[in-house]
Amino acid sequence: MNIAIVGSGYVGLVTGVCLAHIGHKVVCVDVDREKIRKLRLGKVPIYEPGLEELLKKYLKNKKLSFTWAIKEAAKKSDAIFIAVGTPSKKNGDADLTYVENVAREIALSMDSYKLIIEKSTVPAETGKRIARTIRMNLPKNKKSIPDFDVASNPEFLREGSAIKDFMNPDRVVIGVESKKAERILREIYKPLKPHMVVTNINSAELIKHASNSFLATKISFINAIAQICDHLGADVLKVAEGMGFDKRIGRSFLDAGIGYGGSCFPKDVDAFVRLSEKSGYNFKLLNEVRSVNEEQKAFFVRLIEDKLWIVKNKVIGVLGLAFKPNTDDMRNAPSLDIIKMLQHEGAKIKAYDPVSMENAKKMMKKITYSKDPYALAKGCDCLLLLTEWDEFKHLDFKKLGKVMSQPILFDGRNMYRKQDFEKLGFEYYGIGRGMV
Ligand code: UGA
Repeated sequence: MNIAIVGSGYVGLVTGVCLAHIGHKVVCVDVDREKIRKLRLGKVPIYEPGLEELLKKYLKNKKLSFTWAIKEAAKKSDAIFIAVGTPSKKNGDADLTYVENVAREIALSMDSYKLIIEKSTVPAETGKRIARTIRMNLPKNKKSIPDFDVASNPEFLREGSAIKDFMNPDRVVIGVESKKAERILREIYKPLKPHMVVTNINSAELIKHASNSFLATKISFINAIAQICDHLGADVLKVAEGMGFDKRIGRSFLDAGIGYGGSCFPKDVDAFVRLSEKSGYNFKLLNEVRSVNEEQKAFFVRLIEDKLWIVKNKVIGVLGLAFKPNTDDMRNAPSLDIIKMLQHEGAKIKAYDPVSMENAKKMMKKITYSKDPYALAKGCDCLLLLTEWDEFKHLDFKKLGKVMSQPILFDGRNMYRKQDFEKLGFEYYGIGRGMV
């Protein structure tokens, strides 16, 4: 099938490359010409394992191309995915300006049937608004008005494992209002043989909001449990294990830590709270999910303050800055807030991250960035593990401890075992490990 993807950011790019990989002819569109020029040369602007290799492969055999000419791309395509950004407005609402612009551009280029698919995370009813925008902007001078359908096909890709997630989906959700739209979407995903959930557009849009909000709720729930564990001398890892074996609960997304971050959960939870408000429902539960998440970062800082006693002028080494491993994404990373709070108390921050330091430098200035964990540890009064990169699993902490001023480790991701660190002469503090 000939497919256009409008918006070559994280979601658009991964979707485009993966659709080429399963046999479609894909053109990815973006208004950022510099980005398109680089993509044409096979240069990927984000860090995502496996993406660059696939992109180069399909560029070479011409299954994948890039352009900023949206009208031409739309004309040549049977299906057009909208994957542009939907940033948060100040009040938490999703800003749909880009989605509307794209809908208008598509309408102006339409000369035959098109299926327009929303992939961006959008509030319920957006599908209807896209259809209305297209109807109002169709070329008036044509003899026959071209037919079209709008559909919703939310994405469930996680940064860092997006290609794997695309190729092995738990489910593919499609929200459609016509048999034709359903047939086309089934055809697009046929090579993956996925479990399909077919519903109307509003329900599909809601599935995405409900899924992300539920996962965020699971994380805040286990973080709340972690707080209790600390006070009762229980271990949150064992509690999560014990809960997780119950098939109704499941172990995933029960990792206590320093709170969720990233470009999705914080924004999507905000947008869902606003959407609920507008529909007349006060989603108190999600408000609590948000405040537990904020509180978790402050709790971690309090723990550090308590154990260091005086934070002012202490040198604190941060291992990991990205909001999660295998990405260079710093958007809403918990490290940003934690570092800010510590700097406010007068701490001197050093930091190391395997891939996100370039992005971090644009957002945080008063930090000494180190070339590796060993350079980082030198002269530190404590280390904080904020992102659980694989690389950090195998560090030589004996060596690190020797160059630190005081061997103290605050493990914000519960990546290590206390007993291993005690043997090395480290003071070790995790999250919810019964140690406060
Ligand atoms: C999330 C969802 O998992 C995807 O299904 C969805 O498609 C995506 O948002 C989106 O809406 O585009 P992502 O933000 O890439 O994906 O990352 P996650 O793996 O979900 O992690 C989000 C945050 O939660 C990270 O900061 C992570 O460290 C934290 N987390 C995750 C925990 O603190 N504990 C856990 O048990 C799991």
